Amino acid sequence: MRHITIVGVGYVGLVSGACFADLGNDVTCLDISEERIENLKQGIMPIYEIGLEELVERNVKAGRLHFTTSYEEAIKDAEFVFIAVGTPSDVDGQADLRYVRMAAESIADVMDHPLIVVNKSTVPVGTGDWVANVIRNRRPDVPQFSVVSCPEFLREGTAIRDFMHPDRTVLGSTDREAAEQVAQIHLPLRSTIMITDLRTAEMIKYASNAFLAAKISFINEIANICEALGADVKEVSYGMGLDKRIGHSFLNAGIGWGGSCFPKDVKALAYMAEVEGRNPHLLHAVMDINSDQRRAPIRKVKELLGDDLHGMTVGLLGLAFKPGTDDMRDAPSIDIAHHLMQAGAHVRAFDPVAMPTAQPILPEVELVDGVEALADGADALILVTEWNEFKNLDLARLKSLMRHAVLIDGRNVYDPAFVREQGFQYRGIGRGTNGEGVH
Ligand code: UDX
Repeated sequence: MRHITIVGVGYVGLVSGACFADLGNDVTCLDISEERIENLKQGIMPIYEIGLEELVERNVKAGRLHFTTSYEEAIKDAEFVFIAVGTPSDVDGQADLRYVRMAAESIADVMDHPLIVVNKSTVPVGTGDWVANVIRNRRPDVPQFSVVSCPEFLREGTAIRDFMHPDRTVLGSTDREAAEQVAQIHLPLRSTIMITDLRTAEMIKYASNAFLAAKISFINEIANICEALGADVKEVSYGMGLDKRIGHSFLNAGIGWGGSCFPKDVKALAYMAEVEGRNPHLLHAVMDINSDQRRAPIRKVKELLGDDLHGMTVGLLGLAFKPGTDDMRDAPSIDIAHHLMQAGAHVRAFDPVAMPTAQPILPEVELVDGVEALADGADALILVTEWNEFKNLDLARLKSLMRHAVLIDGRNVYDPAFVREQGFQYRGIGRGTNGEGVH
């Protein structure tokens, strides 16, 4: 059993804390928000993540997981302190490190024994060295400490599984012994553990996320070419993915990527390159393709209903940036709703989980309590988030409720022929002759 403290009970912090506790460690999770900590003590989660509530409850009961707002209490027995606070990006894409600084300074203030400070927040390359300086500047007489970078690769919706079965654990430090100590607490996960220097570890996180975003933007560009040439991108993607060098994952064309990581990380990487006088052409193309892709469903609605959508009602099936989460950060649904409203449409939406988080972000959108209410009198439906419950819709019933039976499949989940048989006009993304014919 090791003593681990996690600073920040957001997505990464809380999942990591609960999982480390489940592996038998004594874990204290700290947050500066009294409200979040009070809620957690009562079993109320600050985020929605499958399996998290049970995991937290079980480990709290077993006495391995504690919550506090006090740095003194959190640090007094700790061997490792993980910093897992938010690093939002400003308009240029520059990461805002104010919360990392606050955490580092607060740790310095109360530290009374040697510590390993592990950085889990996604931070610009060079931040590990900066954290060490922040701690030293805050308290020149600080006890011995080392900084280790341990980037996270958790996906929302599968975060617990991703933590417990990682493809790899990347650790970076100038202090090899400290990195090996952090490696020790990851041994039960039985993954490949790579130890490298601080900056390289930090870069691995950015390069991985940028590559995955690029893979999706690539297939979305191919989808647009498929539409023009009459090929079906689903088949193209399947055929490409059979090549082991390419693989099938992150090759689904659709309305583009969103969420808390990809948009922020690609932008931040481009910014870091530009600050150093480099021109990251590819990263800019990856972002441009992604914002264009959010217009694709509107183009398709207009193709079928005309350019002026005044007096028309469009229903969005799903709002979260992907299934399995209530996260609305940079969700394609936000741009799609705005583009539709700009064209004059009245927009309605239903999401099984994300409506409370979506409401303040999209106050002009009418939120309804089910798929039938969404279809009632609507002129088009757009599948935005591929929740399982949307995969087997009663299309005949929905058609009977709608004014125009138009279905835009933003995630290519439906069989175009089947949807047409039910009397719908169907448009997928890049489905060529299979989805919509050559224009
Ligand atoms: C991502 C990374 O996968 C994870 O390693 C990192 O730690 C955080 O960022 P997450 O944002 O939770 O995780 O979601 P992910 O499942 O990776 O999906 C990102 C976006 O890409 C979603 O909007 C999803 O809809 C989109 N996507 C994904 C596609 O459009 N096509 C695909 O083939 C895969």
